[in-house]
Amino acid sequence: MALLKLKNLKESNAFLNTLLDNVDSLIFVIDKDLRVVQINEAFRMFIYKQDEEIDQDFFGKVLSCGYTVNESVNCGSTNHCHLCEFRNGVLKSLEEEEVVKKRLARAIYLKDKEAQRHFQFTTRPVDFQGEKMVLMIIDDITEMEEKKEKLKQLNEIKNRFLGTVSHDLKNPIGAIQSLAYVLLEEDLGEEHKTYVDEIYKASEYMMRLVEDLLDIYKIETENGRMNLRRVEYIQILQEVIDSHRITAKDRRIQMILEVAEDAGTLMIDRNKILQALNNLIDNALKFSPQGSKVVIRGYRRSNHFITEVQDEGPGIKKEDREKVFQEFYQGSLPFETNRVKSTGLGLAIAKKIVEAHNGEIGMESNQKGTKFFFAIPIAH
Ligand SMILES: Nc1ncnc2c1ncn2[C@@H]1O[C@H](COP(=O)(O)OP(=O)(O)OP(=O)(O)O)[C@@H](O)[C@H]1O
Ligand SMILES: [Mg+2]
Repeated sequence: MALLKLKNLKESNAFLNTLLDNVDSLIFVIDKDLRVVQINEAFRMFIYKQDEEIDQDFFGKVLSCGYTVNESVNCGSTNHCHLCEFRNGVLKSLEEEEVVKKRLARAIYLKDKEAQRHFQFTTRPVDFQGEKMVLMIIDDITEMEEKKEKLKQLNEIKNRFLGTVSHDLKNPIGAIQSLAYVLLEEDLGEEHKTYVDEIYKASEYMMRLVEDLLDIYKIETENGRMNLRRVEYIQILQEVIDSHRITAKDRRIQMILEVAEDAGTLMIDRNKILQALNNLIDNALKFSPQGSKVVIRGYRRSNHFITEVQDEGPGIKKEDREKVFQEFYQGSLPFETNRVKSTGLGLAIAKKIVEAHNGEIGMESNQKGTKFFFAIPIAH
């Protein structure tokens, strides 16, 4: 407060009070006997109390804590006080001079009505002219928590829907696909062959979509639970590169693996990481021009293992970079292919897999190419 020149102590005091009264958080100061000695306007508005009503009352009572009201005893004397996180935070700041930050849900009385609220609070020790006090800052995060809960429920409904629909679609689509395949072997006229071929391709695309949706459903509902095993990581990289050799050869793309022989082992879900890598390499090959290079790198950096897939493709426009990990986002292909139509779920699935390993995925791109990378913690 050295910048603003105030005439005297009274003026600077008034200025500080104005500042405190304009903060949205509930702020109050508690003395060593756990009595409230100062509050700000946000707090007054929240608890519908005036300074005279508070006048050095215990902070739990000032806050109209549900325990003190229901048991009609003072803060510090209810059956719950020893477990009260507010109280324990204040005591810790007083006794051990520590800053405490916590979240909690608590019943309090607002306008004489009991309400369950979610709070985030900080208690901070302050020493004023040799007297120990605690500055308590509380934010009411009830609305945010309720929205979070609602979103969680909606996500669960979405997942159930996704799981049921995609599972139940698999059999009929499989039947259409195999019957179309059988018909293609028959002696059909040119026109009919084209129709059946279209049916076959459409069912192949639907099957992929259903399988990708089922993958997302599984990762989300299993709560990201991965089947972790210790594996030699270089083998995984080699395996996934080998599985793309034919596509790479067809498109005259050179795949280069740069990883130390002694890269070591990682605790991962082998199949899931293979799936994530598969998509990154599939993309790199799909978006690269003929005759270019795709480099797959693996190296340790402090306590993470980084995998990079770098191509010499057209790059991803700045405005699209945010979107590539979103479900169903698809940019256009820079050239024609006759592959199975894509679903735009590959990177969304890869991201979920990496995050389920407590890792992070990202990308860098310019007109000379794109590099996707992910980091997995090296478990000890
Ligand atoms: N290496 C890359 N170079 C350029 N663009 C890319 C690259 N990788 C991804 N993209 C862009 O991000 C989009 C989303 O990728 P994602 O893997 O999720 O879907 P997709 O490859 O189109 O479909 P799917 O993976 O389901 O076959 C792509 O459609 C493309 O526009
Ligand atoms: Mg893809």
